[in-house]
Formats: sequence, C-alpha cells, structure tokens
Amino acid sequence: QTVALIAGTVGKDGYRHYMEKELHEHPVVIGQTLQRIIDPVTRQIVLPEMDFALSELPRAVITACGSAFYAGLIGRYWLEAEARLPVDIDVASELRYRNPPLTPLGMGLLISQSGETADTLAALRALRAEKQHIVSVLNVEASTMGRESDVVLGMVAGPEISVASTKAFTAQLSVLAVLTIAIAQARETISDERAQHLLASLLDLPSRAAEVFSRQEAIQAMAAVIAEARDVLYLGRGICFPVALEGALKLKEISYIHAEAYAAGEMKHGPISLIDRDVPIVVIAPSAILFDKTLSNIQEARARGGRIMAFTDAKGAERLRDIAEQIVILPDVDAFVAPILYTIPVQVLAYEVALRKGTDVDQPRNLAKSVTVE
Ligand code: G6P
Repeated sequence: QTVALIAGTVGKDGYRHYMEKELHEHPVVIGQTLQRIIDPVTRQIVLPEMDFALSELPRAVITACGSAFYAGLIGRYWLEAEARLPVDIDVASELRYRNPPLTPLGMGLLISQSGETADTLAALRALRAEKQHIVSVLNVEASTMGRESDVVLGMVAGPEISVASTKAFTAQLSVLAVLTIAIAQARETISDERAQHLLASLLDLPSRAAEVFSRQEAIQAMAAVIAEARDVLYLGRGICFPVALEGALKLKEISYIHAEAYAAGEMKHGPISLIDRDVPIVVIAPSAILFDKTLSNIQEARARGGRIMAFTDAKGAERLRDIAEQIVILPDVDAFVAPILYTIPVQVLAYEVALRKGTDVDQPRNLAKSVTVE
C-alpha cells in the first residue's frame, strides 16, 4: 500500500528523466521507510521477527556492490560508534572469494536494491555456509535474496528505474540507521535519551531533505564548473568519506567525467600531486563532523590552486567563505543523520552535470540496473 503511494506512476511525472523524479522522491522514501520500522505513536523500533537475539551477535559482516556498498560503509561507522559492534565489510565480489574466518552466529548483512545482484547473492550463500544469520536490506523483497534471507528489512523506495541508484541509497541508510539503534539498545551501548534523540533526528529528515531542493541554484552553479573539468576530486572524512565515494561514483556513471574520492586525510599521500586549477575539489563538510580536520585538508588543497566546491551548513560556511569558490549551504542536522542528508545534493550535482554534458542520464553507457552475472 505504501509503495503504491509513492510509486503509483511509472511515468516520469513531468520530470525530464527518471533520475530527476527519483531524486525528488528522497524525502518521501526516507519518511515511508522509517514509518515502517518506527511506531509513530510510541516511537519504538519495530523490526521483523528474528530467531536470534540482537544482543548476542558477536559481530557483523556487511557486503554489497556499487552504491549499496557505500551505504554499507556508512552503516559500519554507525554500528561501530553507536552499537560498539565489530564490523567487517567488503564488496561482494571480493568477499565471496576471500574466505575470511568468521565467528559463527554473527550477522551477515547484505544490502541490495534489486535483491538479484549476482555477486551479492553469491556472498549471501557463502555467509550462510559460514553459519551467519542472514539479514538483507532490500527494495525488491520478492527477490532471490529475499527468499534466501533469514530476515528481510525492507526499504520502501518504490521502483527505481534510473540505472544510477539514488533514492534506494537514502532508503538503505534509513534502515541501517534504525537497525544500528536497535542493536545499540539490545547491547546497552546507548542511553534511552540518545536513542530517542537519534530517532527524532531521523524522523525530522524528510523535511530537511525536502529543503535541499531549494538549493538548486547553488548546486547548478557548482555543476557549471564541474562540467568543464576532466577530473574531479571528492573529499570527506569519517562518515562523510562514503558520501564522497557515492558522489564520485555518480559523477563517473552519468557524466563520464573521471572522479576519485579520497578520505581527506589521505590526500597528502598521493592525490595532492594532481591538484591544480583544472581539478575541482568537491568537499563534504558538515560542521559537526571532523570539521577542523577537513578544513585543514581543504586549506592544503587551496594553497596549491585547487578550486574548492563545498557542501556544508551555515556554521561551516562561515569558516569556508574565503576558501571555497562555491558553497552549497545545507540545513543544520545532527551528525548522525548528516550522511543521509548530504548524499542528496551530491547526487543532484551529478545529475546537473550530466544534463550539461547531454548524456543519456537514465541509461548510461555500459551500465546495467541489475548485474545478474558475475
Ligand atoms: C548496478 C547499478 C548500481 C547499483 C549496483 C548494486 O551496478 O547500476 O546503481 O548500486 O548495481 O545493485 P543492487 O541492486 O544490488 O543494489
């Protein structure tokens, strides 16, 4: 019923591309995904029944492909920091052949929009053979992965038609955020007060996400610079590093501009040699997440002629005013939910660049929506 609400139309609803339509669905998709697992009255988390106790999980191993893998990286930061759960993570195409030693009865956490990606499915089977509880975060629940999982945590993203994933990413993150809080509560690593605060920040996200679209002009100004570049560097630190990875991937996929993402602290170990006026640097820098560290990395880049394009909030913008050439000022949100919010404008940026390049946005060359072969 909820799916029909947001995905009642399979057309483009007046948008130029499915990707544009799906980007605009972020707020509603986050809201509906959360509604399914948070009781609106009691604000208690309601997950599907599991035949194991979250409190007894010794560790988790996360695996996925593409954008879903980057969602998993964000999930790792959350699970480690809030639930103090040891997490191993790898792309499915590597994990399935790595044969890592696993503690029995851990959680094998799979993330997939389609539920059919061949490598992720093979990794699921490998994890099952190693006696892991199989928990899958899926958009298409009636999928092979859905059938082979012990527990399915559904996103409520509706059909995603654009080959490049957008709304499924924030839906995956919404599920992972709630799962993190549930595990943290079970392991007693979080106070009731903090759990309620994080849940409230999540429930507030759809409104904050909708505000992103009033920043369209600033994003377009940034896109005008990026569209002229041959190479683009994306930087982020901590939980914003996977957001940088997602931004670089999206840009590559639909605009065919070479982009690389680096954990900002690693810049001096290599990519700094690339920096000159021709390589724009996109920085994911909410003021609440390692901001001073990121700022010093940005200053190093700026000193070498780098053109800084920053995503930050009002507080961060104050300090970036003289350093960044372009700034997109985003709503102020709690650090916990910032990676969800910041993903949206970063994906919109890739879309705006692709529009300028005139590429086939919904069907980029050589890419498939669902990769069902190895
Ligand atoms: C393909 C798509 C990506 C997606 C990846 C994983 O490469 O083009 O957008 O992130 O597969 O797909 P899944 O369905 O497993 O999330």
